[in-house]
Amino acid sequence: MKKVAVLTSGGDAPGMNAAIRATVRSCIHYGIEPYGVYEGFKGLVENNIHPLTRTKVSRIINRGGTMLGSARFPEFDEEKYQLQAVENLKALNIEGIIVIGGDGSFKGALALSKHGIFTMGIPATIDNDIAATEYSIGFFTALDTAVDSIDKLRDTSFSHQRCSVVEVMGRHCGDLALYAGIACGSEFIITPETGFDRQRTIDAVKSSFERNKRHAIVVSTENMTDVAQLARDIEEETGHESRATVFGHVQRGGDPQAFDRVMATEMAERAVELLKNYDSSKVIASKGKELVNIPIREALQMVKEIPNKRYGLVGQLKN
Ligand code: F6P
Repeated sequence: MKKVAVLTSGGDAPGMNAAIRATVRSCIHYGIEPYGVYEGFKGLVENNIHPLTRTKVSRIINRGGTMLGSARFPEFDEEKYQLQAVENLKALNIEGIIVIGGDGSFKGALALSKHGIFTMGIPATIDNDIAATEYSIGFFTALDTAVDSIDKLRDTSFSHQRCSVVEVMGRHCGDLALYAGIACGSEFIITPETGFDRQRTIDAVKSSFERNKRHAIVVSTENMTDVAQLARDIEEETGHESRATVFGHVQRGGDPQAFDRVMATEMAERAVELLKNYDSSKVIASKGKELVNIPIREALQMVKEIPNKRYGLVGQLKN
């Protein structure tokens, strides 16, 4: 394999840069020419493809975001765009591509492989919602950001004897809320996996204040409920002032923490190694301390397991 391209797609995630860097450096190691596709699949269709060098990826391992840019481009489901992308790659004699992103991005990679391009997928999203991998690049950094912010909210909640209702990202996956909620000793955690029960949430906060706690924290995944309204309801029923805070896109930014950098580096090294041997259509996934290669088609059909033990720990699924 003489030339390999790399692209980042979907919501950016801290650690994507580390994966780009490792792709480039591994390619150079094997005598493969690395190319960067800028602005995700949209850039691929628009032929925004340029050579990358060792120095172009210097000083990015510690940086959040993605130096290549990212985009959501649902139009890539259409074959005419896929064929245009393949034509662009073939014109540059690029045989292989590494797609860094989530399930949607892997669908794009699969489409490319159907048209003769050798592809690899690297899971990167703060949501940790990719069933094939235990952890995705960016999740732990976003988690640290959420935990750090909740710790700050706790200071002010404690001072004012308030309840803080916090909304974290995650789309349809509760991992960010669950892990952040446990790490911060929250009173109640609301996730898509547990569902939302307004009265149970209020009762949990009430009983915490009854035990003479000075503050309470409720952590919710986005799209579960109107957290501002929930804060008003808690205030009305408990008599304690309550405030809602939505962390939003802040969780997607920031320098990647060490584990995300290590995982990104190892996954990219593996992806290049497989492409070098003309392997194709695999997702590099984390499983315990190992990395495993899962066919993209299989990865896309997998359903994320609910971590029952952890939900048991916070009592969410017990009653
Ligand atoms: O998938 C990552 C994510 O940040 C989700 O947590 C969130 O629901 C979504 O992307 C937000 O998308 P956008 O950046 O397009 O508003």
